[in-house]
Amino acid sequence: MIHTNMKKKFSCCVLAFLLFAVICVWKERKKGSYYDSLKFQAKEFQLLKSLGKMTMGSGSQASSDTQDPQEGSQILSNPRVTAKVKPQSSFQVWDKDSSSKNLIPRLQKIWKNYLNMNKYKVSYKGPGPGVKFSAEALRCHLRDHVNVSMVEATDFPFNTSEWEGYLPKENIRTKAGPWHRCAVVSSAGSLKSSQLGQEIDDHDAVMRFNGAPTANFQKDVGMKTTIRLMNSQLVTTESLFLKNSLYNEGILIVWDPSVYHAGIPKWYENPDYNFFSKYKSYRKMHPSQPFYILKPQMPWELWDIIQEIAPENIQPNPPSSGMLGIIIMMTLCDQVDVYEFLPSKRKTDVCYYHQKFFDSACTMGAYHPLLFEKNMVKHLNEGTDEDIYLFGRATLSGFRSIHC
Ligand SMILES: *[C@@H]1O[C@H](CO)[C@@H](O)[C@H](O)[C@H]1NC(C)=O
Ligand SMILES: *[C@@H]1O[C@H](CO)[C@@H](O)[C@H](O)[C@H]1NC(C)=O
Repeated sequence: MIHTNMKKKFSCCVLAFLLFAVICVWKERKKGSYYDSLKFQAKEFQLLKSLGKMTMGSGSQASSDTQDPQEGSQILSNPRVTAKVKPQSSFQVWDKDSSSKNLIPRLQKIWKNYLNMNKYKVSYKGPGPGVKFSAEALRCHLRDHVNVSMVEATDFPFNTSEWEGYLPKENIRTKAGPWHRCAVVSSAGSLKSSQLGQEIDDHDAVMRFNGAPTANFQKDVGMKTTIRLMNSQLVTTESLFLKNSLYNEGILIVWDPSVYHAGIPKWYENPDYNFFSKYKSYRKMHPSQPFYILKPQMPWELWDIIQEIAPENIQPNPPSSGMLGIIIMMTLCDQVDVYEFLPSKRKTDVCYYHQKFFDSACTMGAYHPLLFEKNMVKHLNEGTDEDIYLFGRATLSGFRSIHC
C-alpha cells in the first residue's frame, strides 16, 4: 500500500514537472512573448550579475576585479565561468576577430573561388592585412579615406546632352541631414518578431535597403523610410521597380560596382548592371523625388580599409549594401544605430524578414566580404554586447561628432 502511494506521488511529481517544462517552452516560443522573454532576460542578467559578484567575492573565479557596470558581460567572456554557469552564454555575440575559419566548408569554398575569380580586377597595394587600429583611429581613417559623394551633372559623361535634366540638381547634403540619431535597418530574417518598429521610427532618419518592405512588418521594422539604398541589380531586374509605391518614399540612392578603383567614364562604359535607362525612366515618372547615384569609387575606398584591417585576404568583391549604408549614414548623422547587422539572439539562417528563404551565406557572406564587415562594425560599436544580443543593435558615432 505504502509502496503504491509512493509510486503515485512520484508519477504526479514527474507529470507536474513535465507540464511545467512544456509551459516554459511554449511561453518562450509563443509569438508576441518577446517582452516576457525580455523580462526573463533582464532577470537572468541581474541573477548573473549577482552570481558574478558572488564568485568574485569568493575569489575562486575572478580574473579581473572591476566595478565596471558592464561586468556582467565581462564575466560572460570568461570561458571558465561560462563553462560553469550555463545561461551566461546567452550574451555571446559577434566576435570581432572572426576569420574564414569560422565559415562552414561550403562558404569557405565560395570565398576561395571568389579570390581566384577576381572579377573586379582588384590589385590591393595598401598596408595589411591585419593592421590594428583603435576604434577611434579606425573611425578617423574611414572618415578621411572614404569619400561619400554622388555622381554630379558635371561628371563626364553625365554632363552630356543625353543626361541633361536627369540627375538631381541639389547636392545630397542639402536634402539629407544633418541628423542627430539615425537608424540603419538591415533586411535580416532575425528582425522578425523583434518588436523594434517603434524604436526604429523614433530616430530622426531611417535607412532601408533594396526592396525591404514596411507594410505588414511595422511592428518589427517600423514605417519610416528616409533613405533607401538599392543595388543596381534590383533597379535593373526588379520588374515592379517603376510601379511599386514602396520606392516612392524618401531619398533613393543606387550603387553599382566598377572595376577596382575605375573612374566614372570607365565605369559608365562597363557597369556591373546597366541600370541607366531604368534610372532615367524612374526620374521621368518621379522628377521631384531625390534619386542619387553613388560614385563608384566609394565602395572600393571602403573595401580597401576592410582589407587593411582584416586578418586575411577578403573576397575581392564590393562591400554589401548594408555596409555601404552604414558609412553613408555615418557621414550624415551624429549617431547611427544599426539593427541586426550584428546578429542578435534571434539569429537565423532565414535571409530576409519578408521572405522565406534560407541560406547561412546571408549572415556569413559569400559574394560580399560580410564576415569582415561585421568584424569592423563590432570593433566600431560603442553600445554593449547586451544591446546586440537583445536588440541586434550596434551604436556607432557618426563622422560629424568625432575629433581626429
Ligand atoms: C574626395 O572627393 C573630392 C571631390 O570629388 C576630391 O577632391 C578628394 O580628393 C577625394 N578624397 C579622397 C580621399 O579620395
Ligand atoms: C564634360 O566633361 C568633360 C570632362 O570634364 C569635358 O571635357 C567636356 O567638355 C564636358 N562636356 C560638356 C558638354 O560640358
